[in-house]
Amino acid sequence: PRAEFVADLLSKMTLDEKLGQLNLPTSGDITTGAASSSNVAKKIEEGKVGGLFNIKSVQKIKEVQKIAVEKSRLKIPLIFGMDVIHGYETTFPIPLGLSCTWDMNLIERSAQIAAQEASADGINWTFSPMVDISRDPRWGRISEGSGEDPYLGSQIAQAMVRGYQGNDLSKNNTILSCVKHFALYGAPEAGRDYNTVDMSKIRMYNDYFPPYKAAVDAGVGSVMASFNEVDGVPATGNKWLMTDVLRKQWAFKGFVVTDFTGINEMVDHGMGDLQTVSALALNAGVEMDMVGEGFLTTLKKSIDEKKVSIAQIDNAVRLILEAKYDLGLFHDPYRYCDIKRSKTDIYTTSNRNEARNTAAQSLVLLKNQNQVLPLKKSGTIALIGPLADAKENMSGTWSVATKLENSISLLSGVKTVAGNSATILYAKGSNLDYDAAFEERATMFGKTLHRDHRSDQELLAEALKIANQADVIVAALGESAELSGESSSRTNLEIPKAQKDLLNELLKTGKPVVLVLFDGRPLVLVEENQKVPAILNAWFAGSEAGLAIADVLFGDENPSGKLTTTFPRSVGQIPIYYSAKNTGRPLGNKEGKFEKFKSNYIDERNEPLFPFGYGLSYTNFSYSNLMISSPKMTKNETIKVSVEVTNTGNFDGKEVVQLYIRDLVGSVTRPLKELKDFKKIVLKKGEKQTLTFEITVDKLKFYNSDLNFVAEPGVFEVFIGTDSTTNNKISFELIN
Ligand code: IFM
Repeated sequence: PRAEFVADLLSKMTLDEKLGQLNLPTSGDITTGAASSSNVAKKIEEGKVGGLFNIKSVQKIKEVQKIAVEKSRLKIPLIFGMDVIHGYETTFPIPLGLSCTWDMNLIERSAQIAAQEASADGINWTFSPMVDISRDPRWGRISEGSGEDPYLGSQIAQAMVRGYQGNDLSKNNTILSCVKHFALYGAPEAGRDYNTVDMSKIRMYNDYFPPYKAAVDAGVGSVMASFNEVDGVPATGNKWLMTDVLRKQWAFKGFVVTDFTGINEMVDHGMGDLQTVSALALNAGVEMDMVGEGFLTTLKKSIDEKKVSIAQIDNAVRLILEAKYDLGLFHDPYRYCDIKRSKTDIYTTSNRNEARNTAAQSLVLLKNQNQVLPLKKSGTIALIGPLADAKENMSGTWSVATKLENSISLLSGVKTVAGNSATILYAKGSNLDYDAAFEERATMFGKTLHRDHRSDQELLAEALKIANQADVIVAALGESAELSGESSSRTNLEIPKAQKDLLNELLKTGKPVVLVLFDGRPLVLVEENQKVPAILNAWFAGSEAGLAIADVLFGDENPSGKLTTTFPRSVGQIPIYYSAKNTGRPLGNKEGKFEKFKSNYIDERNEPLFPFGYGLSYTNFSYSNLMISSPKMTKNETIKVSVEVTNTGNFDGKEVVQLYIRDLVGSVTRPLKELKDFKKIVLKKGEKQTLTFEITVDKLKFYNSDLNFVAEPGVFEVFIGTDSTTNNKISFELIN
């Protein structure tokens, strides 16, 4: 019926109406004014709009939908999109933090809750998941992805798509998902947003493509083109990417939308004028034009000039109408406009509780000398820092639907969780402060820096006064939310200077200091790691952040987050990632000593400060008895690797058991280690568990220089351990 319905509708459409379906403007003045009097409304009435995005509330959306289905000639409903990236009003940790849970159920559930809330408020399409692999923390959008690893990134991509779309898109609590940004957006040169990407195809296929493909395999309904070029051609106009890879190799059946003015930006890329680049995008395999109206304004002429065909346009329209059909919009254009649901299903206590629990699992304990943590719920705790009482900074980037003023600050969370038995003192201590150059640039993009009216000396004096009264100091420092996310690349990855100075003053008191670090990317923490006894990396943990962090600080939750992206020692090491190659001149010593004419730096070690997969717990886990079911396997066989994990510490806890594989010899060089499996387990103190992993030939495959996905016979090493540096290994041979 879908095919017939859509074909029938298509046969009734004029060319203008067809081009209208390919057009995706922003909500523009509808957001602030009445829908009927808006500029966009007129276009909707004329059939020149296929969907709208970033418009919030059932009332507004209903009003706009009404124009489409009552006033436009063919009454085709609009699709309503939004950047629902890590939750809707209830926000979850930024995706980079979420990935550190390594818990696919929690991640899927977070997307499901986001879909439930968004759909209760009129939205039926989200521009998520963002699955761009990134190995460059200078890039501000590293915060929006799942880190550096293609295997983990693929699992997460699928969990998110399942969470948003469920198994029936037409249900009123599931929404269409859009995987982005296809492709390679996370690898801009020098970490500068929107910059050129240049990458070998073998690296694309092995390291950067897998999460996009995984989302397609999971049935994602739409794909967003990236701003950057891929092999010399902007993704938005790249036929190899959009047609050969996405459609032919991966069998994608949904529609492709550009990023914001992605078509128009090809003019600046130097691909021709708007007329040319619009045709280029359609010919490449792009169906929907976000904001720029290149399709709307130029394609007619391109048809006349035979640069594009009606059949191509029909195909694009068909894909968009099919998505609307799948969402159930032709049956009921107001399916997602239930005013009752908008009042009962959003920001509910139960959603917020789940967000709090998920946030607690996303925190990564980087250091805990002398068991400073967990804190006791007694005595005097001085909570100091510009991020301690900063609701507006808890959710981080892309929290468009959240009411930031409702978020739980760390101060409020600590007070709630500690209860009355502890005394909590608070001081701001310093401004968030970056440096003069940043301040100047920040004012250029209209940011208010919320400078305190007090002088730096006054702020510090107040902080030291309470620090001296306390048994322990909790310093809440790091990046403000606007320092990561889109168009927020940094060259300096340290904690901003004013806050570093504050930390040093706090350390001088001689009291134990716990650093709670807010950040949207790996920071360079060499100094802090030397001086501060305990560091808890909190990311931007969402609307319930304060409670979740407090749960971990006081030990109600044992931290179990593990890094999904490497923390460098210095910006000079970037790009840095665990699955590097050996090179022809690897270092000969494990201590990181400099060796002339080997691949290393004169002024820095090769290893990062904190590796991929790393994260401490309040308890300890030991690994023993690594065993393999057979020393050899054929391509049709499965072998089993098992390991015993014991909780040897004093707390119940969760551990992410990680399995890596190294292919020792290949027709192309192979990484030193690649994550191929993991299990997150719960162990009570003293408890032991034997875990078994299956090795199938798929885990041994890679794209060779002909871009064929193959497993080559030879010896493989299997590592199982607590992070990517594990040397707990066993080997086997793949035979013909
Ligand atoms: O979805 C986003 C994208 O990630 C960046 N540019 C704007 C889009 C729509 O808001």
